[in-house]
Amino acid sequence: MTDAPPSAPTPGLIERYRDRLPIAGDATPVTLSEGATPLVRLEHLPEAIGRRATVYAKLEGQNPTASFKDRGMTMAITRAREEGARAVICASTGNTSASAAAYAARAGLSAFVLIPDGKIAHGKLAQAMMHGAAVVQIKGNFDDGMRLVREMAEETGAAIVNSINPYRIQGQKTIAFEVLEALGRCPDYHCLPVGNAGNITAHWLGYCESAPSSGNYLPGAFSSRFGLERYETRQLSTRRPVMVGYQASGAAPFVSGAPVAAPETIASAIRIGNPQSFDFALAAARESGGWFDAHSDEAILEAQSLLAEREGIFCEPASAVCVAGLMRDLESGRIPEGSTVVCTLTGHGLKDPDIAVRHARGAVATVEPEPAALKALLLEHLR
Ligand code: F0G
Repeated sequence: MTDAPPSAPTPGLIERYRDRLPIAGDATPVTLSEGATPLVRLEHLPEAIGRRATVYAKLEGQNPTASFKDRGMTMAITRAREEGARAVICASTGNTSASAAAYAARAGLSAFVLIPDGKIAHGKLAQAMMHGAAVVQIKGNFDDGMRLVREMAEETGAAIVNSINPYRIQGQKTIAFEVLEALGRCPDYHCLPVGNAGNITAHWLGYCESAPSSGNYLPGAFSSRFGLERYETRQLSTRRPVMVGYQASGAAPFVSGAPVAAPETIASAIRIGNPQSFDFALAAARESGGWFDAHSDEAILEAQSLLAEREGIFCEPASAVCVAGLMRDLESGRIPEGSTVVCTLTGHGLKDPDIAVRHARGAVATVEPEPAALKALLLEHLR
């Protein structure tokens, strides 16, 4: 360490977990103080369906660019800069592009982002544009973009910062460390939305590394596929949670067991038919005793509203699918009463204001600027 002040007074996750990340000792992190997100107890939802369970939401929307992607991006961009890359490239349903654009801007690198034509939420588009990325709409979906990214990376020498970049997964695994530290124990179930399947892979990697000697396949397979060191150094827990992955019904390759040619869902972040980390995600579910399930757009929007109205938490539709899933699985008993559950709420609701304004149950009223009319209206809304 030098005497120079750290780049951020609030340490980012590379500084906090350097001993468990594949990062050179003298590498200066490209950081926006990501991670250390709140773990908030849900006080009303389990009771709303008459079930007793201790449910927490990990608010990943409180990362610097308002999604979990920043955990992986601090690693991927730090690494790209160390390796002398001039540019980074990604395909994205929106959040990866926002995060890549922000971290690339900070590192002084060019960012090329490929997004599905007209299919990303406005907040995310605004972020990529504001951070100065070269934003290209592909007349196709995320899976088409992913194919092009692989080709263009070779042609241009840009570093790929999608989650096929193993450093992304390494950064994202830190969510498991934070959950274990905050709870002081391992949750029984960890529920999360699944799209390209990097995040469930990362969660499981983090949990496996925190309960060493597990003999699980994924950490070893992951390390050897990418030639990375294994970090099974900290016994934070003796157990690992059951991993449960939820998808949107119109984009559910893990439920059908095969790629989906034309994925469709209102949860645009997870509108993905051909997940890149398919095998790793399957391993995570199998090894943990977990499962995948899918929910309709209606159920996703209902869960998003319930969280906002009853818990005061505003997440984006893709994130809400795991709450829709949790509620159904609690109700059916698949997740037993008395369980401790963590849901990863992957992105902030403000990312997608159009959906919120279109589907929110609360209407906006217009009145004359006079007390009588206003008072009548307000009294109608007393709870
Ligand atoms: N939730 C949100 C808000 C996302 O943006 C994503 C993925 C996921 C869940 C699924 O995570 O892909 O690791 O299984 N968004 C990517 C993107 C694909 O381009 O922003 P995953």
